[in-house]
Amino acid sequence: MSVPLKASTPAPRPAPDHLAAVFAQYPLEVVSASGVWLNTRDRGRVLDLYGGHAVAALGYGHPGWTRALIAQAESCQFQTNAVPMDVRSRAAARLVRFAGLGLDTVFLVNSGAEANENALKMAFRLTSRPQVVAVEHGFHGRTAAAAAVTWGAAQKWYGLPRTPFDVSFIPRRDIAAIERHVTESTAAVIVEPVQGLGGAFDMGAPFLEALRRRCDATGAVLIFDEVQCGVGRTGFPFAANMYGVTPDMITTAKALGNGFPCAALLMSPRVAAALKPDALGTTFGGGPLACAVIEAVIEAIESQHLLEQVRRVGAYIRSTCIVGPVTGHQGAGHLTGLITRRPAKEIQAELLQRGILTGTASDPHVLRLLAPFILEEEHVDLLREALASLPA
Ligand SMILES: Cc1ncc(COP(=O)(O)O)c(C=O)c1O
Repeated sequence: MSVPLKASTPAPRPAPDHLAAVFAQYPLEVVSASGVWLNTRDRGRVLDLYGGHAVAALGYGHPGWTRALIAQAESCQFQTNAVPMDVRSRAAARLVRFAGLGLDTVFLVNSGAEANENALKMAFRLTSRPQVVAVEHGFHGRTAAAAAVTWGAAQKWYGLPRTPFDVSFIPRRDIAAIERHVTESTAAVIVEPVQGLGGAFDMGAPFLEALRRRCDATGAVLIFDEVQCGVGRTGFPFAANMYGVTPDMITTAKALGNGFPCAALLMSPRVAAALKPDALGTTFGGGPLACAVIEAVIEAIESQHLLEQVRRVGAYIRSTCIVGPVTGHQGAGHLTGLITRRPAKEIQAELLQRGILTGTASDPHVLRLLAPFILEEEHVDLLREALASLPA
């Protein structure tokens, strides 16, 4: 028997477009895009310094990426991981070579959260320990384990009755706190080497080196979450390369597919030794379409010298855009945080009025730039002019 709703209970109302109303909406509608430009229904051409939240690394309409996707779709769009495919082995080998860190076993999945979920599972499998250390202001995803290591999830949106393991959070860059948090009970330390949502906040080499040393001393596994900062965004293949610190596992996604959903977990030989058949699994992860685009993304980054371009143009942003309401910067490459005197949301809205799309962060005074790697100095000049025209 159904229970009648109380008169005071508002009837659930579907969103007008039937999509779950869980995302705050940017006030623009994109109809098409090309290079670093979005064509919108209501605002004309908009310069995209947000990149679909760090995803559109090659910009829009990249011919090599599009060709690779179409060719794979025409040849064979899907086979399960139980059926060997050359494109899958090629993608894994290309990713391992691109990283150059000796993390030479790859598990391909679909999303950043899923990569982190599996990384944590591998750490527990390897160490049989009960606890994980994460870093304050970090974001790792919305599934049970990934969200458990996400700062503030419990207070804001975790939504499950309990977390699956004990977590302690370490303050950012606090080297002195590491010894107290990371002990012989610690299975893993998970850290974004450059935090995304936390405000393009770079952890710095000394903190990451200290984590590496402490993990070596205690036997804990070091996981770099490079879902947002990886695959060239810092101007290096991974932030691990930039800092010269090699973790036991790297998780990555976003730029890896340039918009086709895919993610990867890269493992060291020590971690991979704990694998056995059925230890991990997925239906769609490592599908041939995803593998074809992974190859195409790395091929484009290498053949178009995009790492150099990200370093050069990222440095140009930092040296020219400290104007108007911007007082400083943090981050690396095209994961840049412009520190703002006024709330970043105000500046984001004012920039959009001037035809430039940017992002914000959990720090209310950081404007986050996640531009496509193909951004040029002439585009940065447009940002500088727009910022200079705003009230300080
Ligand atoms: C650093 C980091 N880790 C994990 C995730 C989760 O990735 P996904 O949304 O693909 O699950 C994100 C997403 O923004 C992220 O920025």
